[in-house]
Amino acid sequence: MAAGKGTRMKSTLPKVLHRLGGRALLRHVIDCAALLSARQAVVITGHGAAEVEAALSAEAPASLGLQFVRQEPQLGTGHAVQQALPQLADDGVTLILSGDVPLTQASTLQALLALCAGQQLALLTLAMPDPTGYGRIVRENSGGKVLAIVEHKDASDAQRQISEIYSGIMAVPTRLLRTWLSRLDNKNAQGEYYLTDIVQFAVADGLPVLAHQITDAAQVAGVNSPVQLAELERIYQRRNADALMEQGTRLADPARLDVRGQLVCGRDVEIDVNCVFEGRVSLGDGVRVGANCVIANASIAAGAVIHPFTHIDGEKLGVEVGEGALIGPFARLRPGAKLGAEVHIGNFVEVKNSTLAKGAKANHLAYLGDATVGERVNYGAGSITANYDGANKHRTVIEADVHVGSNCVLIAPVTLGAGGTIGGGSTITKDTAPGALSVARGKQVSIANWARPVKKAKG
Ligand code: UD1
Ligand code: MG
Repeated sequence: MAAGKGTRMKSTLPKVLHRLGGRALLRHVIDCAALLSARQAVVITGHGAAEVEAALSAEAPASLGLQFVRQEPQLGTGHAVQQALPQLADDGVTLILSGDVPLTQASTLQALLALCAGQQLALLTLAMPDPTGYGRIVRENSGGKVLAIVEHKDASDAQRQISEIYSGIMAVPTRLLRTWLSRLDNKNAQGEYYLTDIVQFAVADGLPVLAHQITDAAQVAGVNSPVQLAELERIYQRRNADALMEQGTRLADPARLDVRGQLVCGRDVEIDVNCVFEGRVSLGDGVRVGANCVIANASIAAGAVIHPFTHIDGEKLGVEVGEGALIGPFARLRPGAKLGAEVHIGNFVEVKNSTLAKGAKANHLAYLGDATVGERVNYGAGSITANYDGANKHRTVIEADVHVGSNCVLIAPVTLGAGGTIGGGSTITKDTAPGALSVARGKQVSIANWARPVKKAKG
């Protein structure tokens, strides 16, 4: 169910598209369904339907037959599920989930499905210290058979004392769901078609209703406001951090790590505070990441050190950092940066779509764009590849063992021959021969004993 408005988010973005851990809330629910090898997933949209459908079709796992049905207008949760019925086969089990409840674990849903066993109505429930607002599980006597779910607004004072609530998640044989939904009405406090009314129908039909009661409230917590979104984000991040530490990753502070995607770590990886990982990132054995780094879509090989305040974003092309490389502090690696073993990239150096072979160094204030850099090249402070002529991008090739002095401009396309030296301050427009010293700048002129101008006396 993803048709609700989400008024309290106070946002133009449909609620289920707000991101948690870098993924839309609804994506979490869909990904969980994919883990259960569901036969199909039907998403019921309403508010912002077109936007929700477009966003999900673009990024949902292909393995899951994803279908959308629209609920317009939104007349309640029972009415919502009615819209999906034409898509559902009678021989299956329908698992009802909410698009704004992102942290449910697949194992919990598997237990619920096992309880349903293809035959019975199974409800996921939870005891809450403050159950205000939730549907209450009414039992024959305390701990006895489930008789009904009564919505808070419809509940008597006595029923409001019940602490066991319905989580919004149930598993139900589809053929039974179909018959029960046809019997719903909206004669209740909210004038809505309540999905929860099917519990009474099951009881009336003499079918047992089973409850799977869990204790982890986060798994059924919904997002209704920015505060709740932030709370669940922290819970999600703490789970990620715990899982990483479980397999040996050392985090300076598990509360100051954000993984918005997939982070895979080898052995003896150390991550300092305030690092953000996005997309797919892998850190090889012994990698150390300093404080305040943002790393996205990159593969960092064993023994590399990423010093503080480094920004790496491979986007679609990816970034590769070789074994034992030293990056940063304050370095910037952009899409297509492929750095070999023991490469050094220092402060305020930007690398884009460039390959640097083993042992190449660019340690200060430099730009390498669309370049192929050979082994052991030393690229001086302040040097840049002028790769863009205003219309097209061109390549710069710097062969092995070239020494580029400080403040050089290499105007692409250009090739610097192996072992050559480029004098500081040169603007290089033509290829240079291997082994040569190339200097391209105004010659130094010195005028001996030159007298500086002096100020004229006033008046
Ligand atoms: C519902 C349950 C309640 C339970 C609570 C758990 C009903 C009648 N009540 O309450 O017992 O304790 O969830 O959070 O089911 N939605 C639609 N179309 C609609 C109405 C809702 O798609 O017409 C979607 C919402 O977007 C949301 C989900 O259904 O994802 C639940 O709706 P919400 O209004 O949050 O639940 P409640 O009615 O508060
Ligand atoms: Mg409601």
